[in-house]
Amino acid sequence: MKTALIFGITGQTGSYLAEILLEKDIQVIGFVRRTSTNNLSRINHILSRLTIEDGDITDAHSVYAVFEKYKPDYCFNLAAQSFVHTSFNQPDLTFQVNTSGVINIIEAIRTISPHTRFLQCSTSEMYGQNYEERGKWQNGDIILADTLTVRYQDENTALQGESPYAISKIASHQLVQLYRKAYNLFAVCAISFNHESPRRGQEFVTQKIISYVKKISSGAPVGKLKLGNIEASRDWSHAYDMARGYWLAINTDKPDDYVFSSGHTHTVKEFLTVAFGLISKKWEDYVEIDPSLFRPSEVPYLRGISTKARTKLNWRPQYDFVDLVEDMLKE
Ligand code: NAP
Ligand code: GDD
Repeated sequence: MKTALIFGITGQTGSYLAEILLEKDIQVIGFVRRTSTNNLSRINHILSRLTIEDGDITDAHSVYAVFEKYKPDYCFNLAAQSFVHTSFNQPDLTFQVNTSGVINIIEAIRTISPHTRFLQCSTSEMYGQNYEERGKWQNGDIILADTLTVRYQDENTALQGESPYAISKIASHQLVQLYRKAYNLFAVCAISFNHESPRRGQEFVTQKIISYVKKISSGAPVGKLKLGNIEASRDWSHAYDMARGYWLAINTDKPDDYVFSSGHTHTVKEFLTVAFGLISKKWEDYVEIDPSLFRPSEVPYLRGISTKARTKLNWRPQYDFVDLVEDMLKE
């Protein structure tokens, strides 16, 4: 039986990944940190089929111990301080988890378990305000109009972080690339664009909107929905589709980096329109802009071109934008 170690199994995407690996009869080891309240809610339904080990990726002893014990075939690192807004207030912690934590993992692989195939979750936030521009072309299945000039990011777009989170992720992305080259490790970076699901954390904008919409549709008394920059554009996918991509990316002949994205972009305003539209309401009647929710520095536009993953891995997202909003609302 193959073994897979997941860091970040209690998170949104880690829980989908665990389900996918269990379906493939892989022994799934989940590395879980101690918290004073229960953090297992996303994996409760599969807990009896998982092997849970306690630890924290900022604690090298616990990371090394889990590699000594299992020397797994696969290792996926989804653990992170993943909320961009918090990274401005807690930059040190963000670097400890997102960068030093990754060093602990790849050093453990290098010294204890060099046969382990490793996947690191990198992010579209790494592009910051950078993009490419091109007209008259086609991206895999997505056929773009001849006259359209498209702004996009792909594996070749330059990195320029706009938050402590993004910069911590650029550092770990480049460290993983370095370890692949210098030590010949099977190390992959998945450059994921935004992904959401019913299991998304409450502080992210999509879940914040969906929770509010659910409240007003149930008739619960609520004040206004306070939001920050609703002009920002994001390329939103479903977390389940990303987890499917990670499995494909770690199972190639040669390790490489892949963008995972829908290829479409929508503003937060468009998300509001679809979410409120599903309960036949107008978001303009409910939303209030709160300047304190704007970030000191913003990523205004993301649209990922995932031609490489679509052609080399044969990856296709199963959910489109409206499917995603509907799925979040119906749960
Ligand atoms: P998430 O829901 O915030 O999950 C983060 C996970 O990391 C949780 O399991 C959390 O544990 C764990 N974690 C945090 N600090 C830890 C530590 N010190 N030691 C051990 N575990 C720790 O994030 P997600 O949405 O699933 O995203 C997964 C990964 O993809 C992250 O690396 C994120 O940066 C990256 N990513 C996400 C997106 C997106 O749009 N979702 C896009 C690009 C990249 P607790 O449950 O105990 O908090
Ligand atoms: N969270 C939040 N709350 N965001 C808001 C709000 C609000 O009230 N109002 C407007 N926004 C805007 C943010 O300024 C940002 O432009 C956009 O909505 C999305 O914010 P988030 O949902 O917090 O996600 P993110 O794009 O900053 O980061 C997510 O995606 C990254 C990949 O691009 C996270 O999942 C990161 O971990 C991930 O790397």
